[in-house]
Amino acid sequence: MKMESLQDLYHEELADLYSAEQQLVKALPKMAAAAHHPSLRSALESHLEETKAQVERLETLIKRADGKPKSKTCQAMKGLIEEGSEMMKNRGEAAVIDAGLIGAAQRVEHYEIAGYGCARTYAELLGDQEAVMLLQETLEEEKSADAKLNSLAKQVINIEAARV
Ligand SMILES: [Fe+2]
Repeated sequence: MKMESLQDLYHEELADLYSAEQQLVKALPKMAAAAHHPSLRSALESHLEETKAQVERLETLIKRADGKPKSKTCQAMKGLIEEGSEMMKNRGEAAVIDAGLIGAAQRVEHYEIAGYGCARTYAELLGDQEAVMLLQETLEEEKSADAKLNSLAKQVINIEAARV
């Protein structure tokens, strides 16, 4: 992979995010099914719908950038999802497992927030204002998904987990 310009790095970041989101589209239904608390399940399900739209947004961005999606596997997302599925396999108290699932989902969101933040900054520097807007839109969705999980953990799930 050549890395001779910010443009190259930007394309690489888009390919990484594209792989990450595609992996997530497959993983989120499993995580939602494993969630015990209905609010956690619905938070994960509604983020699945957002994630599908984010994949399409990335396809638009990749077309704008260089036309062809690079085949790349985001190893970080693979690892984060693996940790999430280990949590799903655990047996024990529902609230404790749910608290663990929220932790896994928030790790995913934070990874994505970092990736989209970088990509948006590169697009800004490369002078592609339309790409900036699309990336910003996804970045906001990731931040609000994280905030939603955070308040669910703080107000409900972690409290229940602490009681058992
Ligand atoms: Fe996402």
